[in-house]
Amino acid sequence: MSTQENVITVRGVHNQFGSHVVHHDLDLDVRSGEIIGIVGGSGTGKSVLLRTIVGLRKPQAGTINILGKEIFPNEHHDTDLNDEIGLLFQDGALFSSMTVAENVMAPLREHHPEISDKLAEEIAGMKLSLSGLDESVGMKMPSDLSGGMRKRVALARAMALDPRILFLDEPTAGLDPIGAAKFDELIISLRDNLGLTIFMITHDLDSLYRDCDRVAVLADKHVVINAPLSEVERFDHDWIQDYFGGPRGRAAEGAMSSRLEA
Ligand SMILES: Nc1ncnc2c1ncn2[C@@H]1O[C@H](COP(=O)(O)OP(=O)(O)O)[C@@H](O)[C@H]1O
Ligand SMILES: [Mg+2]
Repeated sequence: MSTQENVITVRGVHNQFGSHVVHHDLDLDVRSGEIIGIVGGSGTGKSVLLRTIVGLRKPQAGTINILGKEIFPNEHHDTDLNDEIGLLFQDGALFSSMTVAENVMAPLREHHPEISDKLAEEIAGMKLSLSGLDESVGMKMPSDLSGGMRKRVALARAMALDPRILFLDEPTAGLDPIGAAKFDELIISLRDNLGLTIFMITHDLDSLYRDCDRVAVLADKHVVINAPLSEVERFDHDWIQDYFGGPRGRAAEGAMSSRLEA
């Protein structure tokens, strides 16, 4: 793993809505092949940061580079990232009137209309199995599935175009602890087997301890630290100390160390 190579470089980003400054002078590096966890209190701008990095929102200042491509400022308006990044949004909504397979095929249909129906169906089946689902699930409607299965379908859709970077916004929110643990295992296996880089916003301390190589903390309008968890936990910052030092943080850390000892 060439962990030192940056696949995402964010410098000096400023985002504000009216007079409400969300990000000021925000820097972030994401390295190739890592699972980076993005944490921060509610409303600190985690989702806005994700949307800004993938080019869905233009910041008021700063520079953003993904895989050597300039996302912002993008003077030539020619940056096409569709084939390189996969997105799983916070609500993760599937199209309810389409079958599961049609949902997974949607990005293919949109960006690669030249692909035949037969091939698109094969690709959808493959992505569903990569996401830990039986290919036969493809014929079902989203409403027939459990919440955990719907998340997996959304993940299969995010992987439809063989991305190099996956962006996940709170992927385990709403799952029970067992469903969340299984989803975490899946994320790790995708990184290990496909060499994906994974940018994951999460509130879930268990996920952070299980999955993440590094954790970036959003507070005070910027990334206050981006480091392995062992370093983040020791960082002298009120929100971080409350978050990791609180009872939930200690329980998640305890669960991780007993697993490592076992
Ligand atoms: N389109 C928008 N218009 C106005 N304010 C917004 C918009 N999107 C986000 N915000 C504000 O930006 C802040 C950060 O939002 P968000 O990134 O969604 O937070 P979170 O860290 O919980 O994901 C919040 O105060 C939110 O109200
Ligand atoms: Mg959010």
